[in-house]
Amino acid sequence: MSTPPTQPAVTQPHEVDADRLVVDDIDTISESRPLPEPNPAQLRRVRPESLPTIGHIGRYALKYVIGEGGLGTVYAAHDTLLSRLIAIKTLNVHLPAAEREHIDRLVLHEARASAGLNHPYIVTVHDAGTSEQGSYIAMELLKGSDLRQLLSMGWKPTPEQAALIVRRVADALSYAHHKGVTHRDIKPANIFMVGRTQPRVLDFGIARIRQVEALAQRDDEASRFQELIGGSPFYMAPELVRREHGDQRGDVYALGVVLYELLAGRRAFTGASLDEIADAVLHQPVKPVHEVNPEIPRELSDIVAQAMHRDVGQRYRSARRFSHALRDWLDGVDGGRPIASEAGPRRSRRRALWRQPLVWLLAISFVGLVVALAGVFWSSIRGG
Ligand SMILES: Nc1ncnc2c1ncn2[C@@H]1O[C@H](COP(=O)(O)OP(=O)(O)OP(=O)(O)O)[C@@H](O)[C@H]1O
Ligand SMILES: [Mg+2]
Repeated sequence: MSTPPTQPAVTQPHEVDADRLVVDDIDTISESRPLPEPNPAQLRRVRPESLPTIGHIGRYALKYVIGEGGLGTVYAAHDTLLSRLIAIKTLNVHLPAAEREHIDRLVLHEARASAGLNHPYIVTVHDAGTSEQGSYIAMELLKGSDLRQLLSMGWKPTPEQAALIVRRVADALSYAHHKGVTHRDIKPANIFMVGRTQPRVLDFGIARIRQVEALAQRDDEASRFQELIGGSPFYMAPELVRREHGDQRGDVYALGVVLYELLAGRRAFTGASLDEIADAVLHQPVKPVHEVNPEIPRELSDIVAQAMHRDVGQRYRSARRFSHALRDWLDGVDGGRPIASEAGPRRSRRRALWRQPLVWLLAISFVGLVVALAGVFWSSIRGG
């Protein structure tokens, strides 16, 4: 049946995804903690075009505010052309008019780089532009909560769950790094969970925009710090705090700090002022995560320590290495119980094969057959 033009069909891809994700969650790890109930606003099943419109940006009709961030507001919006709900992030950068053009160009440049990232654990960027209200980025509307919200609600993943989530984020980063894109603001607020073990990385490129804004206002303390990389000071790699040259290992470090927080249930570094945080990041001893939370196995604690090593040379040298370390740990949990992952199952299945009695029987029979044939061959030579 065709849909009348006045009431276009609304695609809700995340609801379709949810069924697949539930299966994936069950298959991946034996113990995972459910996410808290979503915000009732996310359960709205009404047609988006029937929600009241609170404003417009470009061709998008803004429907409701999802949240406020450091640079602007995130809205649920109706894309009137494609008739679907999407998320719009506005970037209210405070710059003199002369520098606006520069930031608009930068936003489009960064949005283009993010739009080129097509990965299951990275949010999909649909569009970007500039409007009277400033620059904006249009992306898929996710259902769930980010890790900062989940942690502040007291949600605590199991060690396996935390390792799997972070391994997936490391895979997403590795993919982006290979495409030449560094995130530079990995923190719990930029890891959105759409299922128990299903992350989506948000805000690639936003750190650069914030950095440019800070450069223009360099006199206050916050701007001075933001100017360094534009990211959050709690997750900022020591080499970046020291204003040395940084590279993609800054993302590895930040993700290590996120894993620490997921496992310990508290931040790795604290401080009442930016200088105190910088001092903690650079000098204060970090208690190993297995000492903070005795539930955490030593091997996993060692992986966290290596990811967030202060000496960049001692750190995992890529997000891929970090992901592999987590994958190997997950593979080894419970004696190699199969864990669904892109590369993991193949390895687990290979190991599991040799545990099958039938496989051993076949192998022994094969060896027996070879010995018997060799015997027949030998006696025929001697007899002939
Ligand atoms: N695509 C999306 N779908 C659904 N919710 C989103 C999406 N993008 C962001 N959000 C949510 O919108 C809120 C604001 O996000 P925002 O990124 O602006 O905050 P932030 O990360 O704290 O700040 P900043 O990115 O400026 O450092 C957060 O609660 C975030 O989880
Ligand atoms: Mg964000």
